[in-house]
This record gives sequence, C-alpha cells and structure tokens, in this order.
Amino acid sequence: MPVPLLDLRAQHARIKDEVVRALLQVVDDQLFILGAPVEQLERAVAELSHTRFAIGCASGTDALLLALRVLNIGRGDEVITTPFTFFATAGTIHNVGATPVFADIDPATFNLSTAHARAAATPQTRAVVPVDLFGQMAPLEELAAALPHLPLIEDAAQSIGARRRLDGEWMMAGERATIGTFSFFPSKNLGGYGDGGMVVTQDERLATRLRKLRVHGGATQYFHEEVGYNSRLDALQAAVLLAKLPYLAEWSARRREHAAYYDQAFADLADVRTPTIDARNESIYNQYTLRAERRDALQEHLKGRGIGSAIYYPLPLHRQPCFAYLGYREGTCPEAERAAREVLSLPVYPELTRAQQDETIAAVRSFYGR
Ligand SMILES: Cc1ncc(COP(=O)(O)O)c(C=O)c1O
Repeated sequence: MPVPLLDLRAQHARIKDEVVRALLQVVDDQLFILGAPVEQLERAVAELSHTRFAIGCASGTDALLLALRVLNIGRGDEVITTPFTFFATAGTIHNVGATPVFADIDPATFNLSTAHARAAATPQTRAVVPVDLFGQMAPLEELAAALPHLPLIEDAAQSIGARRRLDGEWMMAGERATIGTFSFFPSKNLGGYGDGGMVVTQDERLATRLRKLRVHGGATQYFHEEVGYNSRLDALQAAVLLAKLPYLAEWSARRREHAAYYDQAFADLADVRTPTIDARNESIYNQYTLRAERRDALQEHLKGRGIGSAIYYPLPLHRQPCFAYLGYREGTCPEAERAAREVLSLPVYPELTRAQQDETIAAVRSFYGR
C-alpha cells in the first residue's frame, strides 16, 4: 500500500460538504475581497493565538514582509534569523533591503539558538526572526530576555496552535512576539485551498498600520499615506479556513499520537534519532523529522516501497547561491549544515492509518536490518 507524505484528499473527503457550502456562500454573496469571512477568521485566529489583533494577508511570505515593513526595517539594517528554515524567512528580509544575519540552530530542536542569536547581534541589528520549526515553538522568552531591545517577529508559519508552558501558563504561538506570522499554505496544519497568511500582534498601532499596508498603504481608498502592497487574504480562502478551523485541535492531536507511535517504534534503532520536543513545548508536528544515518539511502529505500518522505531542508540558507554575497563559508553554521545532511520527514498527517504507519515503520526498520 502506498503511503504518501501528505494526503490532502483524505482530509477533503471528510469535510467536503462543509467546505463546499462555505465556498458557495461567498460565491452567492459575490463579495470576494476582505469582508465577513476574513473578519471572522481574523477574530478566531486572534483568539486562538491569545493576541489582540489579527490581519489576514495573501501568504505566509507576505505576512513576514508586512511585519518587517511595519517595523520600518530596510536598507542598512540587519535581521538575525535561522539558516534552517523555509526560504521565505530570509528572502523577505532581503526583499525589504535589509541583511539577513544567520545564527546557528539548537541541534536538539532545530530552532534558532539563543546563544548564537545573541552573539550575532551588532549595533545595526533591528529585529530577530525566530521560526517555530516543524510545529514546535522557538524559545521566545529566552530570546526576548537575551536581546531585550530588539523586536521579535515569530515565523509561526508551521505552528498555528502550538504552545509552550511557562511558569504554569500556556503561551501560544504568536502570543509573546512583537509580531507573529502564520501561513495557510495547503500543507500546513490549517491549510487553505490556495495561498493565504495572517499577522498577529498585541500592539494596536502596529495592527492599524498593517491593515493599511495590505491595501496599498491607505486607510481611505485612493488616498495613500505610504506605499504598501496588494496583500489581502482571499474571502474564498477565509471561508475554507473557517470551515476547517474547528478541526485543527483534533488534527494536531492526531499528529501527536502518530509521532508518539513512531517514537516508540524507533526507540531501539541506534541509527535513527527521533525528534526532540522541548519539555516546555506542545508541538503540532507539522512535520515528523528524524535524524537518520545514511539518510539519502534510507529515503531511496522508502521510495522503493512507495513510502513518501521529504528533506526539509537540504541546503541551509546561509549556503544558498542567492546569499553568496553575504560571504558565509561552509562551517559557519555547523549544526544547520549537519541537520541538512541528516534530516528526513515521514508521513504524520492526521488521516494516516495505523496500517500505513506500521508499513512506514517496517520499511525504516528493514533498511537498518531490524
Ligand atoms: C517557516 C516558513 N516561513 C514562511 C513560509 C511561507 O509561507 P507561504 O508559503 O504561505 O508564503 C513557510 C511556508 O511555506 C514556512 O514554512
């Protein structure tokens, strides 16, 4: 039986009626730009992330771009981030004219290391962009304590609904940062039927300006206080996401169950290191990412048995050709480079059946002769 890395059709089959009804409502209303579904989703995401304001936009990439712009980050500024993330985290820093400064990761969690971030700060640093990678939150409170003068843009594209327990209280992804950003790319735990994104903040002044920046920089049509973007969350996408949102907690819980099952099944394999979740974190497991000996051969072996897997990410951002101008040599972020050689993500989507998971486990074990 083939086991895909992700099976969105299985999810759609379960919720099809609700999603189609929601889409038809938008079509009947003929109100496609912003409007009620977008506002309703913004309120729901603000509530989920314990934030005062949420602003829908066109993608997770644009959410980062808007966050950088609203903090007035541009030419001559440095922004510290992780090299072990999806490209958009650093691409947006470059695209506002600033310089991405890559600090190495914590090898346990794959998230930005606080010590390395602190060491990378200079008088030109204007912000830090930690990423909540694979579904677990970065150490926001540690970064805030280590670099108290810098705003934090939390790239929570992969981690909507993830949380971290601090002093007996749950802190949600997006809650503690100056600005948090989400992506509704279809493969995310809360995925649309196309692109979508959202920005969250506790700061009313930032929220007001973010709302303007997403509609060309003006509060009143045809009058522009500044130059912004056309970056709205599509009403059709908002309708899909609203229909899916009530399932998010259950889907993420299913992913955690699958992760626990894998953890147990691989516990005796010396060649495999299962993911480390910080004891303070509850991950939403957007990915279940192992470190594996002979990773590339393992992936080939799985492919031969019809089992999907993926390498997130094969080349860290400080080593990407487009960032050669920054002058990072091999060895400058050794943990990110090692992770890029060792990681492999296995199917962990909510609809994965026990039989499919057992098949995946058997295939991994057989590769190591177990
Ligand atoms: C960590 C991270 N940042 C940013 C993005 C960009 O989001 P989008 O694809 O919605 O533009 C993604 C996802 O694709 C991501 O995983």
